[in-house]
Amino acid sequence: MTTQFKNALITGGAGFIGSHIADALLAEGCTVTVLDNLSTGRLSNLEHIKDRITFHKGDIQDQEMLAYAAKDCEVIFHLAAVVSVPQTVEHPVDSALVNDIGTLRVFETARKNRVKRVVFSSSCAVYGDDPELPKREVMIPKPLSPYAVQKLTGEFHARLYHDLYGVETVCLRYFNVYGPRQDPSSPYSGVISIFMKKAASKESPFIYGDGTQSRDFVFVKDVVKANLLAASMSQTEGRIFNIGTGRAVTIRHLWEIICTMAGSHIAPAYQPARPGDIRESLADIDQAKALLGFHPDYLFEKGLETTFEWYRKEA
Ligand code: NAD
Ligand code: UD1
Repeated sequence: MTTQFKNALITGGAGFIGSHIADALLAEGCTVTVLDNLSTGRLSNLEHIKDRITFHKGDIQDQEMLAYAAKDCEVIFHLAAVVSVPQTVEHPVDSALVNDIGTLRVFETARKNRVKRVVFSSSCAVYGDDPELPKREVMIPKPLSPYAVQKLTGEFHARLYHDLYGVETVCLRYFNVYGPRQDPSSPYSGVISIFMKKAASKESPFIYGDGTQSRDFVFVKDVVKANLLAASMSQTEGRIFNIGTGRAVTIRHLWEIICTMAGSHIAPAYQPARPGDIRESLADIDQAKALLGFHPDYLFEKGLETTFEWYRKEA
């Protein structure tokens, strides 16, 4: 893909998804700046490219720092966020200062510094537990956590900055992202990162509920591709797109595939279902296909193998 821009800022670029966006932008010949406060991100995610990017340790709540980091940028990929749902439940106000006000500051920076486009990382969390499947962008959101409300607020601000100020904003609602560099350290980390770590160290995982609940897992490199398309494609400004695969996998089947990959069959320990756990999640990606030209490249098995190789080396 040839990008339509040369200078990009990634907020949250030391994190799981942001660091992969940095890799892809460098491969496209772009100049990359990262702004990250390293709250959940790690410099080790950028170690291999540290001499080729400009890194600023700073907070998106700091408007001056944002303006400095965004100087000469044509595009901002906005990923910085308090990403843990339980943390936003525990700290609804502090997390809103980052996820709501910080996001607003990113859009304001774009407006003041004439940054052409902002790609905002939203979440399928905005759909809540509405049982209707697959999830389509036109469905009425049902946010069930401060995190989901904050992402939805970010989407409204994105729309406002497009309509009122002409900033080209594009929102991407990621479904369950997985891949190398995802941090498995918390019980609320992505299930694939947790299962990979368990399989690599030949330990038994917990499966909450009966394991028949399902998710639309999307490989991180496909999410990167969606971001690059969202930064470049015309007729996408002011819009929202689901980013998933359109395929769902049960948690029980997920563990079976990982066991086959690892070559050892370990029985999972079943635990009571998590309170509020959503049974099924599946993206309708027709809009992303039609307008972004987004087609996931990674079949689930291929994405899992690439991911397992990484966790095996890390274990
Ligand atoms: P991550 O925790 O690896 O990345 C988030 C990054 O933001 C980290 O590097 C962190 O240090 C940085 N950050 C946090 N607060 C900041 C602040 N105030 N100022 C500057 N930097 C700050 O998580 P991720 O999975 O890479 O998530 C990236 C984005 O994608 C987030 O906005 C998240 O809400 C969204 N998202 C992720 C998923 C998923 O499945 N991983 C799903 C839906 C949406
Ligand atoms: C994901 C998001 C969350 C968001 C929600 C919205 C992540 C990490 N979390 O939650 O921020 O609010 O979508 O829909 O992306 N599981 C196990 N064993 C484990 C870990 C998890 O069985 O060790 C199960 C969970 O109970 C769940 C499924 O695996 O049923 C997926 O869990 P998880 O990866 O945490 O994602 P979501 O629950 O979809």
